[in-house]
Amino acid sequence: FNPPAPIDLKRYIREVPDFPKPGILFYDISSLLGDADGWAVALERLSRATMACAPELLAGVESRGFLLSAPLAGRLGLGFTMLRKPGKLPGETISLSYGLEYGTDALHLQKGAVKPGQRVVVLDDLLATGGTLEASIKLLGQAGAKVVGAVVMIELEGLGGRARIEGLGIPLTSLVTYQ
Ligand code: PRP
Ligand code: MG
Repeated sequence: FNPPAPIDLKRYIREVPDFPKPGILFYDISSLLGDADGWAVALERLSRATMACAPELLAGVESRGFLLSAPLAGRLGLGFTMLRKPGKLPGETISLSYGLEYGTDALHLQKGAVKPGQRVVVLDDLLATGGTLEASIKLLGQAGAKVVGAVVMIELEGLGGRARIEGLGIPLTSLVTYQ
């Protein structure tokens, strides 16, 4: 008996050359989100990777991280909190600035969004340099969370992202990798 080969999620991810700039190959998850079968398989795999960390709360990174983390939290019966760009969250927030290729950006989290010691898994669609996820993990840590894992759909290898996250002592799971 030969079990069927597992579905390769890459076949649902559209590759767009020269976006957003010439020379960049963009991995577009729109095509995966738009396919009921692909999306179901992705959510199932994200669920497994997330539950392996036994979280009590999920955190998603604006904006594409929200696409994964909110439905996953609903499916898993967990709460969900947002790591947002500046000026979006009402009330008191804590924030962390991080470097980009050109300039800096910042992420905010509402005060009280995380309970002290609460086990949190952070989700994003894609890991490239790891700057976004590193800032997210550090901000959650500053808020008192115990970050127990990071889960992404797509990992771009060779940009140092994985080493950066694992260097923080956080296990990282990705569903698909590209060189
Ligand atoms: C993209 C992607 C990740 C981040 C990864 O987000 O969704 O969040 O870049 O890059 P890094 O590992 O080098 O930090 P982007 O800032 O393009 O915004 P969006 O999610 O709002 O589309
Ligand atoms: Mg993003």
